[in-house]
Amino acid sequence: MRRTNLCILLMIAGLLTHDGVLAQKFDGLARTPPMGWNSWNKFQCNVDEQMIRETADAMVSSGMKEAGYQYIVIDDCWHGKRDSLGFIHPDPQRFPSGMKALSEYVHAKGLKFGIYSCAGITTCGGRPGGRGHEYQDAVTYASWGVDYLKYDWCNTGGLNPVGAYTTMRDALFAAGRPVVFSICEWGDNQPWTWAKDVGHLWRITGDITNCFECEVNHGSWSSWGVMKIIEMRKDLRKYAGPGHWNDPDMLEVGNGMSVGEDRAHFSLWCILAAPLIGGNDLRAMSKETVDILTNREVIGVDQDSLGMQGFRYNNDINGLEVWVKPLQRGDWAVCFLNRNLKSQKISYNWSKYIVSDDLSGMSLNSNEATYSLRDLWKKKDVGTTQKPLVAEVPPMDVLLLRLTKQ
Ligand code: GLA
Repeated sequence: MRRTNLCILLMIAGLLTHDGVLAQKFDGLARTPPMGWNSWNKFQCNVDEQMIRETADAMVSSGMKEAGYQYIVIDDCWHGKRDSLGFIHPDPQRFPSGMKALSEYVHAKGLKFGIYSCAGITTCGGRPGGRGHEYQDAVTYASWGVDYLKYDWCNTGGLNPVGAYTTMRDALFAAGRPVVFSICEWGDNQPWTWAKDVGHLWRITGDITNCFECEVNHGSWSSWGVMKIIEMRKDLRKYAGPGHWNDPDMLEVGNGMSVGEDRAHFSLWCILAAPLIGGNDLRAMSKETVDILTNREVIGVDQDSLGMQGFRYNNDINGLEVWVKPLQRGDWAVCFLNRNLKSQKISYNWSKYIVSDDLSGMSLNSNEATYSLRDLWKKKDVGTTQKPLVAEVPPMDVLLLRLTKQ
């Protein structure tokens, strides 16, 4: 077959863009887990341009931008109607200046702009969905300056998830503006097995809620506390890596849990190399919330360039769980999690607990090397692995250490 004929066939099949490039996801956009903020956890459908502008301001003034947060993402319910040609417009009451002006505002702050849609006929909040309008919407988003798209899975009866998400990926690619593509089908169709080349992150569970251990039953569906989310999906770490991440959902830090629970939630998300997408009101944060969200040494665990998702090494040492994450240059993060309602004392003999991780090919063996210990929340050096670690972990809280090879 002549090359031009092959190109025309591939274009008709939607696999090739007009300038002859094979459709793919935008590469190199999420080498470390994306960091940003999303409106849903705190505001649900109560979104408008003033609140989004103020949130962008607060991301800068709180120090979150400096700490690495980038994306301001408007979740469901920004939508107005489609016009007679099928183009989507924002709700004119809530976004009277339009999306382009809003994205320009966000960009002028040195931040990036994100939006939400859904593979179904309508979004989960009942607004117009993307089905049948994928290429048209992608062009619209590019014209607005969108840098991040979260794509949901409500009202998708009969759709094949791989096909639906690949169509939107190809549409974004054809529109030509690099976009982080966040797949949100709650892990129902095991996206970790097929989404590596489709999106940059994929939700692995249903929605999070602001409690540490609970399940909230909404009738036909439930939302889940921090530990419920973690317990629901195991053995997924081999699917994550630079450019493609397991997403246990947006953060609930600052939304009502205790400071210790918030600290534990944030630490575990960092151990899991999870996207760090704030879900609280950035305009009204306590000092404790800012301190958690902007702790750069803890964020450094999440953003480590090795891109290895961590794992639970042991679920009962002196009543504590021990979570570990291999880091670049042979370092490790070690997190002692106390899920009890009382403080737990620990005397942890490093030489007794050898971690060897097939996935990274790394081991943590204090009989072979000495590591210095840094308490990442207290921001203090606390000795080496040559002596047992003696510590007390408050109830529903963590001790998070970084181990550096000496
Ligand atoms: C789904 C998603 C949530 C949020 C809502 C919006 O439940 O999982 O994260 O986007 O829809 O309606």
